[in-house]
Amino acid sequence: MRKGVHVAEPTERDATVEKGQAEAVAREVFGTRLGFILAAVGSAVGLGNMWRFPYAVADGGGAAFVVLYILMTLLVGIPVMLAEFTVGRGARLSPIGALARAGGRGWKPLGYVFVLAGLLILSYYSVIAGWTVRYGIEGILSGFPANPGNHFQQISTGMPAIVYHVTFMLVTISIVMVGVEKGIERAALVLMPALFLILIGLGLWASRLGGAGEGYAFYLQPSFGELLDPQVLQAAGAQAFFSLSLGMGAMLTFASYLSRDDDLPQEGTIIAFSDFGVAFLAGLVVFPVIFALGLSGEVGQSTVGALFISLPGAFVEMGAVGRVVGVLFFLALTVGALTSAISLLEVVTASLIDEFAVRRKAAAVTAGLLVTLMGFVPALSLDLLGVVDKVAGELLLVLGGFGICVLVGWKMKDAAAELRRGASPAFAAVGEKALVMVKWVAPVILLYVIYFTLTATVQLLRDTFGG
Ligand code: PHE
Repeated sequence: MRKGVHVAEPTERDATVEKGQAEAVAREVFGTRLGFILAAVGSAVGLGNMWRFPYAVADGGGAAFVVLYILMTLLVGIPVMLAEFTVGRGARLSPIGALARAGGRGWKPLGYVFVLAGLLILSYYSVIAGWTVRYGIEGILSGFPANPGNHFQQISTGMPAIVYHVTFMLVTISIVMVGVEKGIERAALVLMPALFLILIGLGLWASRLGGAGEGYAFYLQPSFGELLDPQVLQAAGAQAFFSLSLGMGAMLTFASYLSRDDDLPQEGTIIAFSDFGVAFLAGLVVFPVIFALGLSGEVGQSTVGALFISLPGAFVEMGAVGRVVGVLFFLALTVGALTSAISLLEVVTASLIDEFAVRRKAAAVTAGLLVTLMGFVPALSLDLLGVVDKVAGELLLVLGGFGICVLVGWKMKDAAAELRRGASPAFAAVGEKALVMVKWVAPVILLYVIYFTLTATVQLLRDTFGG
């Protein structure tokens, strides 16, 4: 078995280590620490940062949302991520088995909920990724559409959406089939740096636009009344979970491929800050562009389509430069979507491998085909897509996060020792604080968020299906 690059400090850990390893000798592992970090950042960074975050900001009144989002990331997000890491690395199993190992067989059903969430989220995530791919290709071949609202209507549902959704799924499946180190890790090592570079370039470009100042102001100056709005807090909490890939076992599963000696608190911190950094940067690109062209009303209005309508419109008006910039933007978005989709499919694939002794290739294909078929439903209408996003992308995640908190905070016996293992002294302290949060603070905040997410879900279901 390969060793992680990072060398741990000697502690009193070894007895438990051997027990765990003896049972999972053949498990795949990440080749390097950087590989794990980039794969996890790849999972976190995706459509959530560049598609969902900007419209959530616009919906939530701008900077107030950003402030709450940061608070949620620090108070709940990082602690829950570390809790998932603890369970995953401790058990070296995918969610169903790992939860049972940490808390007993009674926790298995939560693992099944994770797998279901993975299937559901990827089913519509891939549809949106399909739009992204299409915009990128069209940008290159024929330029962005002159009437983006119409165009979006034509391509976002039905056959055109399905074709690109299927294509995107095929690419995702083929990477997951190859495995953790050669497929997932290698893809992340190339794709993530590319995404960072593209976004930084776009951010610099956007800072020189005419409306940049106004855009930044909307984005960054909070109106304090909204900080107390439970709806904004709900949206910020759910967005933090979605963006950090929490509450459905993606981070848990990746951590199950770790060598025993990684500094989990440090890596979790790096991953969370990178994710926030990319979302923040995406905002620094999107808002100046939108304000430069006076499109600020549109973004908040049509939620799922916002980015795909307002931005191409802006790119068209900016002529040849806009076309190049636009293609780069959709390229970055595609890259982010792909590395996130990989992690979603990996949760389902790994569960088939661990629970049903299916081989990796067969598992990836089975899981992937199922998702591909399920995706036909959100591809039928934007309303259905919105409903699945609410139910799986928000509600199931915050519920799952609550479950993880209860498990790690109250039930799992060796959580503190597992999290401390391999951590440098400074970050061991971060880990300890995180566990206090997981036990006392995060569950309370999450109950509040769950309540309002539930209300919002019921409301959306009523609006969508009448009654
Ligand atoms: N975090 C991903 C994004 O922001 C989406 C995701 C959610 C991935 C849940 C895995 C699990 O795009």
